[in-house]
Amino acid sequence: MALQIGIIGTGWFSKVHADILSNMDGVQVAAFVGTSQEKAARAVQGYASAKAYSNTEQMLDETKPDAVYICVPPFAHGEIESQLVQRGIPFLVEKPLGTNLATPRQILHGVKKAGLMTSAGYHFRYTDAAMKAAEMLESRKIGMALGYWMGDMPQVYWWRQQEGSGGQFIEQTTHMVDLLRCLLGEVDEVYAAFAHRAMKDIHEGVTVHDVGTVTLKLKSGAVATISNTCMLPESDMVGLAIYTEQGVIDIQPDKLIVKEKGRLTEIRNAANPYLRENEAFIHGLRTGDASGILSTYEDAVKTMEVTYAALRSAESGVPVKVGE
Ligand SMILES: NC(=O)c1ccc[n+]([C@@H]2O[C@H](COP(=O)([O-])OP(=O)(O)OC[C@H]3O[C@@H](n4cnc5c(N)ncnc54)[C@H](O)[C@@H]3O)[C@@H](O)[C@H]2O)c1
Repeated sequence: MALQIGIIGTGWFSKVHADILSNMDGVQVAAFVGTSQEKAARAVQGYASAKAYSNTEQMLDETKPDAVYICVPPFAHGEIESQLVQRGIPFLVEKPLGTNLATPRQILHGVKKAGLMTSAGYHFRYTDAAMKAAEMLESRKIGMALGYWMGDMPQVYWWRQQEGSGGQFIEQTTHMVDLLRCLLGEVDEVYAAFAHRAMKDIHEGVTVHDVGTVTLKLKSGAVATISNTCMLPESDMVGLAIYTEQGVIDIQPDKLIVKEKGRLTEIRNAANPYLRENEAFIHGLRTGDASGILSTYEDAVKTMEVTYAALRSAESGVPVKVGE
């Protein structure tokens, strides 16, 4: 019998996952849950075996999925995960885990108690660029890193509201923070400056900051800064450049750029990281071997601790210890 997967959320990213899943052997997209029956009914089109629901509990009762994908905006997390924990259903959750730390910490407690298999959507970890960088860094002394997510403002309504998304650093730049943790180790302290420069005057209802820069002290002694803006008319650049005694290793969404010994080498990603992320989770469900899952719920909480500490630092104007 094919693995039955329930998907919560009917937006852009639910479809990205559903398309990958429905092309896998032995996997069936069994259901979509939307905020209305109409939205769910639209989402199931094109997935022959999928049923539409407007209620998670009903979907879980009737479909009895082997696992659930949670692809909802940051503000909508908590209740869904709690239900899955109570029923012992493994899940893959899109980043970020929420808009604050309290809910993810509470969920984590339940996940650990239930011994649930989880995966978090930090797909950068699955890129060839990040994997090659990890390999190279084993024989180099890391000094520092510069991360950046310089772009435009996503058009979905919840993104521009602080209580909807948590702001750019929590919602989007979290990918760079996660990559930093993955490649350079844990963060001890952050100091952040965020500001409102243009977007509040350009769009109605904007409460998120549109520029920000964060200084991070790592437990290893290395330092980093990660900056972001969402005030540009179009996307500019995204990446994490790592500085070592041998040169620069720059991870970008589609490639790795290495500048060492006076030479510049570009290595383009060959594999699709989202496919790898899905394959690792599905393999885990089938075999019980979760070793291919590169970001679990527990690990993603640690990334949330850093991004949330940055928000608290920006609000208070003082450095904040991570995890406090
Ligand atoms: N890993 C990545 O590269 C990546 C890329 C894009 C989006 N994402 C993440 O995926 C999540 C969703 O993003 P999106 O672009 O699909 O947003 P979206 O706004 O297009 O879709 C979100 C969907 O969730 C539904 N929803 C909201 N609350 C719900 C609830 N309680 N129950 C069921 N459905 C609910 C909405 O109706 C909507 O259909 C975000 O957290 C985003 O950060 C990750």
